[in-house]
Amino acid sequence: MKRVLITYRLKPEGLTVLNDKYELTLPKDRSFFSREEVLELIPEYDVLVPNFSFFTDKEIMDRGVNLELISNFGVGFNNIDVDYATRKGIVVTNIPKTTREPTAEFAFALLLGAARRIGYYDRKIRTPQGVSWGTYTDAGLPVFGKTLGIIGMGRIGQSLARRAVASGMNIIYNNRNRLAEDIEKQYSARFVSKDELLKTADFISLNAPSTPETYHMIGEKEFYMMKQTAVFINTARGDMVDEKAMLKALKENRIWAAALDVFENEPHILPELLELDNVLLAPHAGTKTLEDRIAMSVEMAQNIVGFYEGTYPISRVN
Ligand code: 8YV
Repeated sequence: MKRVLITYRLKPEGLTVLNDKYELTLPKDRSFFSREEVLELIPEYDVLVPNFSFFTDKEIMDRGVNLELISNFGVGFNNIDVDYATRKGIVVTNIPKTTREPTAEFAFALLLGAARRIGYYDRKIRTPQGVSWGTYTDAGLPVFGKTLGIIGMGRIGQSLARRAVASGMNIIYNNRNRLAEDIEKQYSARFVSKDELLKTADFISLNAPSTPETYHMIGEKEFYMMKQTAVFINTARGDMVDEKAMLKALKENRIWAAALDVFENEPHILPELLELDNVLLAPHAGTKTLEDRIAMSVEMAQNIVGFYEGTYPISRVN
């Protein structure tokens, strides 16, 4: 029986496809196994299931002498040293199908929330001072008729575009490669350079993967290019943004707002960001609904079964 080590407490409902045929170990009384615990356990396991916060590096793979598969519980795999896994002959898989819609949904929720100041109003209305009910004070920004610039027009970017189009937005995008014309047409999306996108979009959403090339791709220079009324949304990865530069841009009102689900050093958030009213914050919750998390577990588990038994298509990243 193949042995599967899951570093994160996943609900059994999503793992039934593994029942009886695989031996599973996962934390029962807390959310995560610590790195030390994983290092201790890993030599006995054939499969490792990390999530975005578990760094699966050289040390883990060297200790995992029996490791054949890393079945990531996430679409982003910047938590895994994939090059090293490839060198060791370890297959890495991810879960692009089930993470697509929930993440796009959350990105759009953040866009609306930041533009229409939902977090701000909710926070203020509960305080003894209350919120202003006046005609113009604390006004938000309209979304209808505005331009959304999507950086990274893969699956999640396109699902976000679909929602935005349905809400009357215009789409421009930047991507490593331009999309096929028929796909562009679906969203009436226009391919533009990153600079043009930064300069002209009313809303800018980051939906690209975190790689060495995208590290700090949005920094001081990029925030300076944005409109003063721009809203910046990040549901991808925190390390793609120079967080200190973003803080400065927000403090100086160089941009209008940011809506952030991801941070450079999760779960740490720059304390000064917490003080700002023009920031909407979430705890890496893009896929956080019970239904979606169970569907993600099923996709992850099917990658394991597909790898060993060939009964499901698997999403390999190496
Ligand atoms: C997390 C994500 O994986 O898929 C990704 O890359 O960042 C999220 O969906 C999820 O929060 C589970 O850890």
